[in-house]
Amino acid sequence: MKRILMVCLGNICRSPLAEGILKSKVNTEEVFVDSAGTGGWHVGGLPDKRSIEVAKNHDIDITIQKCRKFDISDFDKFDIIYVMDRSNYDSVTSMAYDKEDLAKVKMIRDEILSTSGSDVPDPYYGGESGFEFVYQMIDELCDVIAKKLDDERQIW
Ligand code: 4NP
Repeated sequence: MKRILMVCLGNICRSPLAEGILKSKVNTEEVFVDSAGTGGWHVGGLPDKRSIEVAKNHDIDITIQKCRKFDISDFDKFDIIYVMDRSNYDSVTSMAYDKEDLAKVKMIRDEILSTSGSDVPDPYYGGESGFEFVYQMIDELCDVIAKKLDDERQIW
């Protein structure tokens, strides 16, 4: 079983989409996908209604998800921790205990060479169109991640 954690700031806009989208592209009996936020304001709540809506428009239901905060124990529970932006990267890596923890943290846009080092923009303060834009960006990234997981399956 491979374990992937998607992380953003609030765990209500970007990482719930990343969780839902990646789950739709992998065999969930072989790949466990979860998400969390570095901030705790929305813990226990549903994803943002605009993320719910955009996911629904693409036949993905993210209303079964509950917001939670990233915890230091996640370093032991997950193989890869994908962060949406540089600020998430700094927050998560500041909690790393050792090199092994650090090596698990990856900027999600690094999965596509031409966008390496870039952020998945936070759509929280913008309009609805930002959510579709972010959906498309994450969808493309999850295609790459799902293919990579499939290619690596032989060596798990
Ligand atoms: P997310 O967006 O990190 O993509 O979930 C945000 C959601 C909420 C807040 C910030 C970012 N907030 O400050 O409440």
